[in-house]
Amino acid sequence: MAIAFGVGVDSFARTIDFNLGWRFKRGDHPEAKQLAFDDYSWEEVNTPHDWAIAGPFDANEKSGYAGKLPWRGVAWYRKWIAVDRREEGSQVYLDFDGVMASPKVYVNGQLAGEWDYGYTPFRIDITPYVKFGRANVVAVRVDTTGHGTRWYPGAGIYRKAFLTVSPPVHLVKNGTAIVTSDVSAEKATVTIDNEIENHLESDEPIDLEVTIYAPDWQEVAKRRLSEVAKAGATIEVSTTLELPQPQLWDIDSPTLYQAKTSLLVAGKEVERRDVRFGVRTIELTPSDGLLLNGRRVALKGVNLHHDLGPLGGAFNRRAAERQLEIMQEMGANAIRTAHNPPAAELLDLCDERGVLVWDELFDKWNETADKRPDEPFEPYYARHAAALVRRDRNHPSVFVWSIGNEIVEAPHDPHGLTKERVAFAREAIRAHDATRPVGLGCHIPHSAESGVLDALDFTGWNYQARYERARNRYPDKPIIYSETASALSTRGAYRLPIAGAKCDFPDAPVVNAYEFSSAAWADIPEVEFERLRRDDYLLGEFIWTGFDYLGEPTPFEHDARSSYFGVVDLVGLPKDRYYLYRSLWRPHTPTVHIAPHWNWNGHEGQNVPVIVYTNGDSAELFLNGKSLGVRRKGERPSTPKDLAAGATLEVGGAKLTEAATSSSTSLVSASASESSTWSMVQIGAASHVRSIALDFPRESKLYGYRIEAANDDGDWREVASHVATHEPAWGGVNEAIHHVDVQASKLRVVFGACLDNVEPKVSSIRVYADKYESPYYLPTYDYRLRWNEVAYEPGELRAVAYQEGEPIGEAVVRTAGAPAKLVLTADRSTLTADGQDLAFVTLEAVDERGTPCPLADALVEVEVTGVGKLAAAAGGDPTSMRSFQDSKVALFNGKAVAIIRADQGLGGEVTVEATAAGLPSQSITLQTRRQSP
Ligand code: GAL
Repeated sequence: MAIAFGVGVDSFARTIDFNLGWRFKRGDHPEAKQLAFDDYSWEEVNTPHDWAIAGPFDANEKSGYAGKLPWRGVAWYRKWIAVDRREEGSQVYLDFDGVMASPKVYVNGQLAGEWDYGYTPFRIDITPYVKFGRANVVAVRVDTTGHGTRWYPGAGIYRKAFLTVSPPVHLVKNGTAIVTSDVSAEKATVTIDNEIENHLESDEPIDLEVTIYAPDWQEVAKRRLSEVAKAGATIEVSTTLELPQPQLWDIDSPTLYQAKTSLLVAGKEVERRDVRFGVRTIELTPSDGLLLNGRRVALKGVNLHHDLGPLGGAFNRRAAERQLEIMQEMGANAIRTAHNPPAAELLDLCDERGVLVWDELFDKWNETADKRPDEPFEPYYARHAAALVRRDRNHPSVFVWSIGNEIVEAPHDPHGLTKERVAFAREAIRAHDATRPVGLGCHIPHSAESGVLDALDFTGWNYQARYERARNRYPDKPIIYSETASALSTRGAYRLPIAGAKCDFPDAPVVNAYEFSSAAWADIPEVEFERLRRDDYLLGEFIWTGFDYLGEPTPFEHDARSSYFGVVDLVGLPKDRYYLYRSLWRPHTPTVHIAPHWNWNGHEGQNVPVIVYTNGDSAELFLNGKSLGVRRKGERPSTPKDLAAGATLEVGGAKLTEAATSSSTSLVSASASESSTWSMVQIGAASHVRSIALDFPRESKLYGYRIEAANDDGDWREVASHVATHEPAWGGVNEAIHHVDVQASKLRVVFGACLDNVEPKVSSIRVYADKYESPYYLPTYDYRLRWNEVAYEPGELRAVAYQEGEPIGEAVVRTAGAPAKLVLTADRSTLTADGQDLAFVTLEAVDERGTPCPLADALVEVEVTGVGKLAAAAGGDPTSMRSFQDSKVALFNGKAVAIIRADQGLGGEVTVEATAAGLPSQSITLQTRRQSP
């Protein structure tokens, strides 16, 4: 406990930004905690800082789960603090919004505090270690070696830090809780609880004055209370005010009020705190959806990981704002902070922009939460629940708390779900905010029946309608579809032919941009739309994911370093799925978008299917002015007749033996090269066969086989084949579809090497005279318009979309010639000269007529001069191993993005110049303006 000296008691609390001018070095440097240590040779960095994002990527790293970046290790940061002698007697604190991971904070050589979760904010009281009036050094040791993760976590002091010097009687950090109640058109009740801590040895009389300002800064309510702050204790002072005619916070009108709290000690103001809040009612109902201010709002949500693509884990407000802009432009109204607490400023942005937030504390409750195995659950959970909820509870955007994601039940996972732990976790949150429901992202339907979820207010479910058992068991608990789709694609990378199943990936390491792919455990978007339409008790969905993120490159773990799940790529360029969601989520805003590109040199006369994404109900497609017909949503094609229907499956061939194998995988292979087991169907008279569909008892990927066709002459010819594989790594479909072009009267499947001891047999062979598509894809015809047979000729594709017969817009795609120049387009032309603000400049190659070149892959050198720097550049290719901080970036399917950071200073001009071999260099100039004081 500090004794008051000098002017400290009377001084005014001050908080300063503590982010400029750190010294940084990787490796363990225990001597660096000492004041006298010479860090002259260390790198100078500003925070937020992510030491690993510059790379290099380790292409040989076996799994790309964490982005193949060098995030694992130890590093040190050092920074000087000056605290005035006249401030002696004050309390001095360091606040960190997030340090990845396990930070130990030293002041003048002594350990002042540490923290044990990389994603929650923490405060270290450094008062006992600070020398007033002298130089002090703060050293932070960061150690990610024990951190568990399923994605790229970043590394270092990756969120903002602040230094606060407070008088000994002061407001508690995050100790303000604002609750609105009795909301009506006439009034709302606002209760503002403030915690005050007194570090003196005497009781101190205090006054607390709370003022509420309306969005237009008019004072609308004010109250003053007198209390006594007990010596060495924390007291809570509750103030209730009435707000006349409240303007409600809503997703369409995110109105914010401001509550100002002034703390007076002995009649003198010592601290002032402004907290924004919103007045709104939110109710999660079991059958009537989510009611925001009494009106049903379907959650059109996206999961977002915390990385900012090429900027890595280091938080940047503008980069996060741009993510929200892009998502809202698509029609999203909610985000889930998968699977951890976000940066504080992200919630400010969501408040301002009207985006609802599912605020999530953890993924699993094990090392991904930085929890040591021997550590008791309760104190650990309570500590981090407090850190999250106390920081975030005044944000109107936050509508639910989540205690974790996809946690398996104990004892299968020793750190997993038990009834008691779930109940404890909920209470730990409710202790700091009793106004919002508490839930969990679940994935094992059985857990809905075992009772472990009893304590929750709502449940979230990931994929494949797994919520159904929860609906039966808990008919009174609201359900959110917390992860949907997990659809996969590589932006702009169209491949033909289109694979027949959602998790066939013949074009590795590319996932076809035609948007028919998803993870094996998940589904394409339209299958989810069907479920949401059918199960209208659901509160809505959160797509996995809005943006591609670093790590988890399903299904190409070995070959890629970032995900394929995003609706937009890693740099924010939309994939075609973006227009699918936009069509549905913004039904009254014209969307007309054509896929694929129209540069299919060498494919002349061959089939190139075309898809139009539109909010309209129909569209007509023209190729070089010639109509290819009108398509209407909901016109599902009929499935062609199975020529082999009713035919018996004949089985024969040599008996198979277990082959000796050195790998742990057991292979079953034919005992001799020519003797195999086969299954055969007769289809009667020789027919033209265009598709063969096989159904297997297990996932089709596991079977090695060739398909042979014969006419009555019995001359067998191979027409298709499949090599057994474990890809995709998890799951798969049992159906396999092969497109062929053959005259045959009988077909047989001849098995070769298979995996996982599957018995080499098919359950059925189906044969079609027409192109057969799995019925799985039928819902796509309700949401996109498809021309499945288009004979390619270069030129112009034009789509005209209609709603109830009225044209609503059109789109054109043209065949481009050779790249003739680069085009640079900045998202903003004027930046704030604060050392943080960013411009995202899209680089694109166009031909001499200005038509975008969709296949351009030129290597572009980006040079930035003037008062700005190149922060990062990338093309959105999940397999690229070029450092994001290289000044060269390869266009990826025609495009890339360069991120320019404004220098801190008085402002001026920044010129971005792009040069590529064979193309004239191009530049644009941006302005930066001095930050307003
Ligand atoms: C979910 C999980 C997410 C992500 C996703 C990929 O099961 O919750 O974190 O891994 O799968 O489909």
